[in-house]
Formats: sequence, structure tokens, C-alpha cells
Amino acid sequence: MEISIDRILLSMGAGEEQRPEAIAAFIRGVTDGSVSRPQAAAWLAWAFHRRLTPAETAVFTREMTDSGDVLAWPEGPELVDKHSTGGVGDKVSLVLAPLWAELGLRVPMISGRGLGHTGGTLDKLEAIPGFRTDLTKPELDKALASVGAFISGQTGEVAPADRVLYALRNETQTVPSIPLICGSILSKKIAEGVQRLVLDVKVGSGAFMKTREEALDLAQTLVDTAVANGVHAEACMTAMDRPLGRAVGNANEVIESMDCLKGGGPADLRELVLVLAGHPDAASVLDSGAALERFRHMVEAQGGDGGVVDDPSRLLGAGTEEQVVRASRGGIIRAVDALSIGRAAFGLGAGRLRAEDPVDFGVGVELLATVGDHVVQGDAIARVAHRSERGLGPAVREIQSAFDLGDQPGDPLPLLLQRVTARE
Ligand code: URA
Repeated sequence: MEISIDRILLSMGAGEEQRPEAIAAFIRGVTDGSVSRPQAAAWLAWAFHRRLTPAETAVFTREMTDSGDVLAWPEGPELVDKHSTGGVGDKVSLVLAPLWAELGLRVPMISGRGLGHTGGTLDKLEAIPGFRTDLTKPELDKALASVGAFISGQTGEVAPADRVLYALRNETQTVPSIPLICGSILSKKIAEGVQRLVLDVKVGSGAFMKTREEALDLAQTLVDTAVANGVHAEACMTAMDRPLGRAVGNANEVIESMDCLKGGGPADLRELVLVLAGHPDAASVLDSGAALERFRHMVEAQGGDGGVVDDPSRLLGAGTEEQVVRASRGGIIRAVDALSIGRAAFGLGAGRLRAEDPVDFGVGVELLATVGDHVVQGDAIARVAHRSERGLGPAVREIQSAFDLGDQPGDPLPLLLQRVTARE
């Protein structure tokens, strides 16, 4: 017999651990609408204050996954994906998907759009003329079989319970709960039908998790919950106190990704790609240019202009103007605050506040100097691409304030802070 929402709410009052059947009934009721919004809000408030146990989190995640479509793929090489909790200049997915495919893995990457100061993988890819992020399941099947990787948006109904609960969490201030965040992130990733997941949990001003302690809590919860749901998982906690790489925007991030895919690009981007790829041949595949060719195939399989690989000027968003930002004093660059740079790019039009807002592919920030560099007053430290001066004044001020210049070196976080594996 189905457990009623009244009984579920009463048992929560008694402080008991939720039985798997009760969590399943709750998620079913959220999905079919038989659990009312106030009832769901009461459940969320309880889960927020009491914190779901690891066993409850695992069941919550599985039921959220099963509330919608779960993608299935034919037999073949291992299915792997990466999820990042989001950061400024984080373009790793654009490099990792073709790299893993070139290494013989299959990468069914369902990705999202940017919100606020962090960019979104789909927005960046849409800077490529013709690139489609709305592939249907038969098109995804074809792309995975022919290229070994795709990066596209959600198809069908992925984790519809999460859509309802995420909106309610926003309204009831219950977003910052590690088990609820974990269920929300993993339900959408497990629904991709992957066998292995690499989680990049960012730490620092530009990240969702500002402190190392919070990031470790999220990383461990994600890994344990994924493993409890039959997905091999490992997390890397990585630095987001400064932007990743030099380019922050959309088209400029595609260019930087292509540089990395042919063995060049900024050292920190390459290092992070290699850490997350976790494969002994990853560096040589980048250096050979084979990963860049795989990227071209992926772009063409998704309707995009593969010619951008040879001629990046074909990326969308031309017609911007440039302004150089100069060091206000001489010294060592102690820090470049990720959040400030993210806000600068957002204000120029590279990001969006609401899911339906457009982004300007051509605007953004390029860092010309970074942490540890010595500069003299007046040196160029950043280049801003703007359109008709939109957001230019505040962006320049944000960039100036992002650069911490001093006489002694700063104390940046190591790029890889910690690896997190499943608890026994
Ligand atoms: N991202 C998600 O998908 N869900 C959360 O709850 C937080 C971040």
C-alpha cells in the first residue's frame, strides 16, 4: 500500500530515519503532483535542518533519478562523464569530452547553461556557428557511436522531481544542504546512463563552495552516493580562488580550449585536464593534435562549423571592441579573485541572470598576467572585449580590484587540493 504523505510528515516529526518506501512515495508524489507544494516544502525544511543520513541520501538520489528518463546505451567501451560544481573560466568539459573519446571511452555529456557569474558549457559551445545543443535521442545515439562523445542539453524528462524541488528550495532558502545538492546534481548525471563519474568540486571565491571544509563534505557525499547507486566515482577538489586559464567569456573560452586540445594553452588548464582525465596517455594525445581532430568531429556531428578549428575568427560574436586594463602599482600578483573576474564578464554580457536571457558570445575578459607574475605600474594585466561599452566601467573596476598586488608572494590554493574516494 502506498504510504501517505501525512504518515511521512508525522514520522519526520518523530525524528525517525525515513524508510526507503517513504522517500520513494514522497518523490513519486512530488512528480505526479499529489504531494502539495506546502507538504513538499515541509519535507525540504525537515531534510535541511535534520540533514539526510547517507542511506537516505542514496535513496533520495535514486528516486529522483528514476522520476524521469534514464538514458540507455548499447554495449561498448566504458561510459564516463565529468561534473564540475562550476567556476570562472572553467572550460574543461570542452577539452575532456573529445580527449576521453580519443582515448577510447564513450562520453555522453549532458550539460547545462550558465547562471550568474559562472559560465555554462552549452553557452560556450553555441559560440560555434551551427552547433546544436538540442540533439534528440536518436541523434545522441548516432553521435556517441560515430564520435564517441557529445555535449548536449537535456532530452526528454530528466529528473523532473528535481525541477520541482529545486524551485521550491530556492523559494524556501533550503538550497545549501549538502544531501539535497548531492541528490540534485547526481540524479541528473546518473540519468545519463554513465558507469563512471569524475567530480570536480571547486573551492574558493568563484565557487559554489567557498571553504575547503564545505567542499570536502560535498565531494565525499557525492562520491559515496554515486557509488551507493552503482556508479564508480572519484572527486577532485580543485582551486577556484582565481579563474581557470586566461580566457573568461564564451568564444574566447572555445579558442583557449582548442589551444589546449592541440597541446598548448595555459598550464593550469592543461594540468587540470590531465588530472581529471586520469589516463597515462592523455598528455601525448593532446600533444599529437588527435584530440583536436576529435573535437572537430564532435562539432560537425552536432551541426557546427568544424572550420573554427582552423580559423577561430569564424566563432560568433565578432564586432566587439577592446580595452586594456593596467596595473595600478608595481609588485607581485598575489591573487586574482575569481568572483570579481566572473562578475566583470557577466556585466559585459557574457553571462545571464535568468535561464531565458541571451548571452553575448564575443565579450569577455582575457587575463594578460596572473598569480605569481611581477608587474610594474601601467603594465597591461587584462584585456576586455566589450560591445558598445556595455558594462565596461564596472568591469574595469572589478578587474582592478581582483588583482591583489603586493611586495610578497600570495598564498594561492594548490590547483589540486585533494582527491576524494569512496569511504569503505
Ligand atoms: N546544482 C544543482 O544542479 N543542484 C543544486 O542543488 C545545486 C547546484
